[in-house]
Parts: sequence; structure tokens; C-alpha cells
Amino acid sequence: MKKILTVLFLLACFAKAHAQVSLSTGWKFKAGDSTAFSATNFDDSQWQAIDVNKPWERQRHDYYNGFGWYRLHVTIPASLKNSSYLKDSLRIDLQNVDDNDELYLNGKLIAKGGSDIKVSNYGPRHYMLATNNPAILWDKENVLAIRIFDTGGDGGLYGDKFSISMNDIMDYVSINTDADFVYGAKNAVGKSIKLISKGNNYNYKGKLDFKVTDPETGKVLYEKTNKATFTGSKPFTYTFSAAAIERKSYQLSYVFTDSLSGTKISKVESTPYILTPAPSAKPKINGPEVYGARPGNPFLYLIPATGQKPLTYKAVSLPKGLSLDVATGIIKGSVSKKGDYPVTFTVKNAVGSGTKQFTICIGDKIGLTPALGWNSWNAFGLSVDDGRVRTAARTMIEKLASYGWNYVNIDDGWEIDKRLPSGEITANQKFPDMKGTVDYVHSLGLKMGIYSSPGPTTCGGYLGSWQHEDQDAKTYGYWGIDYLKYDWCSYSEVSPKDPTLTDLKKPYQVIRASLDKVNRDIMLSFCQYGWGKVWEWGAETGGNSWRTTGDIQDTWRSMSEIGFNQDEAAKFAQPGHFNDPDMLVVGKVGWGPSLHNTHLSADEQYTHISLWSLQSVPLLIGCDMGALDKFTLNLLTNSEVLAIDQDALGKAARQVVKGNTYQIWVKEMKDGSKAIGLFNLSDKYQTITLPGTTAGTYKTIRNVWEQKDLTKGAGDFKASVAPHGVMLVRVK
Ligand code: GLA
Repeated sequence: MKKILTVLFLLACFAKAHAQVSLSTGWKFKAGDSTAFSATNFDDSQWQAIDVNKPWERQRHDYYNGFGWYRLHVTIPASLKNSSYLKDSLRIDLQNVDDNDELYLNGKLIAKGGSDIKVSNYGPRHYMLATNNPAILWDKENVLAIRIFDTGGDGGLYGDKFSISMNDIMDYVSINTDADFVYGAKNAVGKSIKLISKGNNYNYKGKLDFKVTDPETGKVLYEKTNKATFTGSKPFTYTFSAAAIERKSYQLSYVFTDSLSGTKISKVESTPYILTPAPSAKPKINGPEVYGARPGNPFLYLIPATGQKPLTYKAVSLPKGLSLDVATGIIKGSVSKKGDYPVTFTVKNAVGSGTKQFTICIGDKIGLTPALGWNSWNAFGLSVDDGRVRTAARTMIEKLASYGWNYVNIDDGWEIDKRLPSGEITANQKFPDMKGTVDYVHSLGLKMGIYSSPGPTTCGGYLGSWQHEDQDAKTYGYWGIDYLKYDWCSYSEVSPKDPTLTDLKKPYQVIRASLDKVNRDIMLSFCQYGWGKVWEWGAETGGNSWRTTGDIQDTWRSMSEIGFNQDEAAKFAQPGHFNDPDMLVVGKVGWGPSLHNTHLSADEQYTHISLWSLQSVPLLIGCDMGALDKFTLNLLTNSEVLAIDQDALGKAARQVVKGNTYQIWVKEMKDGSKAIGLFNLSDKYQTITLPGTTAGTYKTIRNVWEQKDLTKGAGDFKASVAPHGVMLVRVK
């Protein structure tokens, strides 16, 4: 295939690389608390060795909240200081702290995350220490001790980075690549990037090297060096546009070199590329083939359909008690009689019509296919508010609901500080009218979700439902809630220290019983991080889904470690009861007020959505819906990919090939076909073979993302797959 890439115009900018001591090994850990743990000469030789890339829950401390100490013996070389252009401060980076910390160097408290260690303050830390601080022992062994307090859920020190480095001239500089890519003709993409400095008066003057590489061949397709100057008040902007004929990611590299200090900063990113074809103007009905509701409870279903507007909807053989709004496709009412009701939906517009056979199952089961929706956490964390939730709902109805997306879920951060005198819970000032918000969401034909904990407080330190379960369920019923995420968090404070299986099940049985007293279909999502192999008992305990892991982050390490380790839980997925490997990290995420583009590359995001869909799990978008870019929207609106997730058989894919650098996952579909993902886990392009014996006898292999048939006949199938990417096929 031909690969052409031209850079049309350039203007300006950015960069950083400097010496650092990177230490993720050699750490010792102890749960508990004592002032003696900070002392230089304290004997930690018997402490547990720990990996600071993973929460302590993943390292033998399953149910532990509270204090824990990390210690490290480290030599800080004077050469670090001597080779640095700026010589005034030593910098210590921790990523992340869950939830709050104090940092001791050779017995002295040198920094802390917040004034009260028991108040949640999750996130990365960048601590600075003057180089003449006597606490630093240059060229000698230093003892670094970190005291951490975890309020609930995952705890400790974890993430991608722990480092000790010199604060240098480039620490004030960032290469800001946050602008959305602009799409032109022939798969062209372009954007403006910025070289920004913040916090100093230095005059940066040097060059910006820009390079475009084809990762498949390693060939440099374009290279250009520009002069770049910038200061705190005047950033440097560089704009380019590149036409890429082939549908794949190209690597962009930006390196800024400052001529006076000789220091550099660099950044690499890959270009997004669109795979999902635009929907046809002709009506097409998307979404699942089945929908379950309980007899006598309020019923709400929006027929998801794409096609040129206006659309008109028709439903033949709706069960008694339901009615359809022919202009919006919203079905409402209530059915009193149990039974499986086959219904035919038809959607028409000026250019044609589309039909779908659908079954409404009135019985005990709800959530027959995994939830498709949005949750506030990965985007906004505790800074969620009513405006952001309404924006999510509005965006969902405008851009996503026609593909089946329908839940709008508020995570932690909505709760008031103190219950009302009656003991009732209510929302804080960020949600002035919760019932009004829920009514608004329902008026669009969408569903509303909320969050709580069985403990006295949630993981974010807000009020939990402890000893108020019936009362809270009643409030949710009054508001019209359709989905509850119930997060263990501080329940460890009230449960036995080493909970048995019975103890682990208890809070979920209690809330299930409370929800069942309410005259609504409320989906229950367990969030207890996979403890006690929850997949083995989540269904019988009343969970519609259960988290199988700790919290996801927007990194390849986090997403792939979670996603490719779901095989043990896979066989427990069934209609109404699904595994939950955590929410999606696509689009603009941030877990707080400031957001960034996901750190997953385009190929990693194709892997993420493919793997989650193959595994029949809830897909909960975790981004700012008000800032959905074209790539993210395209990623989330592939009806054939979503149909894999929503398949009525409800089976999760199994890992059938686990190679060193690639994996194959196969999911059985209701129509007898198979959905298969060929995943490249390596950093290089590779050809992956799907053996004919795995594919079975087939007539066609369909490329699901591109929605086109690839080959006919049987035998081995080979595909060239991008680094960290996927070939997702449907074998019929
Ligand atoms: C835990 C959960 C997250 C989120 C936060 C809210 O960490 O695992 O998904 O709900 O709590 O505080």
C-alpha cells in the first residue's frame, strides 16, 4: 500500500530529558503506623518487599485501609546535581498517592500531601527540596520513608513513576499536545502544539525538531527543524497538517533543545485514525435484541436507531401496558404479566426503513445485556456537578443513544456532608435538584445511575449508606434512579478484619434486599475490586455486574494488565450478571477538575474497546462528554463492535492463545458465529495467525471495525497488527 505523508505548514515549538534516579524496586513495606518507622537506623530488613507500581491490595493486603509505610535505601549521587543546569532543588516525584502522604528523608519530615493525612488527597506528588538542605546526604545512603493513609478502596503508592531528579530548566516547560487533531481530506490529520513555560522568567531559545515516522517500516517520512523561542508569557505554537494515505497511526515526535543550557524536552504521540464507517442515511436499529424488566415496575426503553432525521418509530405486538412515542422512539409504561414478548420495531425516514425483531422479557431478570453508558468518575472525580451530568445526558442523546448508549451515572461526590434530621440522604450544593435532574434524563429516554458505599463513608470521604440502606434505597426510588454502583471503601472499618466469604457478601445482600423493596428496576453494580473472587458469587448475591479489578488508569500498563487478565472470571458472565473490568479510559479524562487526552494511543484504544466488548462487560464511558472529539466519537459508535458486547447469549470471550507477544480471544455469539480479537501486545508490528482450527469452519471473516468482509473460505487467517493494536473479526 502507498504511504504518503506531507506536512503542509509549520509554525513553532517544544521538549525534556535529564538525569534521574528511577527506583521502583528495593522498596520495603509495612501496614500499620509508628513514628519509629521514619528513623534512619530503623531495621526494616524483615519488612515485605513491595512494588511501588501497584496498590498494596494487589500485594497481599487485600482488604486493608489505614496507615502503611514504605521505605527505600538510596544513594543520591552528587553527579546528579553537578550535571544539572539549575542546581538549586532536588525533586521527588510520586505517582500516585492513594490517599494522602508524608515524606521523610533520613528521619526528617520534608513534605506532605495535605495538612490532615486522614483527608483524601489522591494523586501524583512533585516535591522540591533545596539542594543545601542538610537532610540530603549526597553520595551516601539516604533513607526515604513514606507514610501513607488510605481512606478506602485501593491504597498506597502506585502508578508509573517514582523518581528522584534535579529540578531543571525543562521542569518548567511542557509540550502541550492537548489540542484535538483536525481532520482533512484523505485521512489527513493536523494540529497545533505549544511550547509552554510556567513558573520562571527564563527566556527559552533554541530549536524544535519535528519528525513523522511510519512505525511499520521505521521509515522517517518527514522531518523539519524550526527555531523556537518562548517565555512564560509568550508560548510557541507549531502547527502542521499531514495527509496519511493509509489507515493507521503514524508516530509524531517533538524535541525542543534549549541552546543556552543544552537541555532538551521531548514528546512522542501517535496520530489517531478513523475506522468506523459513517452510518447510512437509511434507518438502522441498533442496540441489543433483548431487554428485561420486572412486572409492575416503571418501564423505559429508547429504541436506538441511526439514519437521517426525522425518524418515525413503530412497534408491533408491544405487551399490554406499554406505549411508544412514534416521534422519539421512547417506550414507557408498565407490564404486569410475566412473559417473553416478541416485538417488531420499524423505523422509517425519507430514504427508507429498518426493522428489528426484539424480545421484551418481563420477569425477575434485568440487565440482560451489559450496561452501555457514561460515568462521571474517570473524567471529573469528585468535582462532578449537575451541569456536567446534564451535558453528558444531552451529548448522549445527540450523539450516542442511537447506538444503544443509555445510562448516565453519577459516581462519588454528589452526597451532602450530613444526613437530614430524619436520617435521609440528600445531594450537596453541586446538585441543587436531584429529582429534577433525573426527570430530565428520563425525559430524554435515558437512565440515571448513582453511587454509594456500604461503609460509613465512600472512597472519596463522602457519606456512605451504612445503617441507612433501606432509607437510601427509598430515596433513590423517589428520585427515579435506575442503577447503583456500590463501593466497598470504608466498609472495612465495620466488617471483620479478615472478612470471610460470608462477610464479603453481606453488604451486597443487604443493599440488594433494600433495593428490592423499591418499586423500580435498579441495576446493582458491585465495586469491591474483585475480592474473594467475586465473579464466582456475584450473580447469586444479586449483582448485575461486579468489578473484577482495582481502579483503571489511562495507561497501557493499567489497561492491558486488567484487560488481558480477565479469563478466570470469563466463564461466570451470563445474561443479567456480568464482569466489570472498570470503566473506559478514552477521550478526555482526569479524575478531577483538570482533564487531559487519554494517554492511550489510538491502537491501544481500539484494543480497549475491542477487548471490553469481547468480554461482555458494561461499557461506561469515562470522559468529558462535552468535549468529545471526532476520534473518540467514532470509537464509540461502531454498531458492529457494540453488537459483540450486547450479544444476547451473554458469554464472555475466552483467552485461547496466550503467546509472549500476542493473544487471541474468542467469543461465542448467539447466531453461532464467533467474534475474535487478535491482539498485538508488543511494541512492533507483527503478523498474527488465527489458526483455521480456532476459527472453525467459516464462510466469511469480517473486519468488524471497518465493517467489511475480508476473505471467504476456511483455513488460517493472517493479519498484520499494529503495536498494542487489534484485528477484531467476526467469523461466520
Ligand atoms: C473507588 C472506585 C472508583 C470510584 C471511586 C470514588 O476508587 O473503585 O471507581 O468510584 O472509588 O471515590
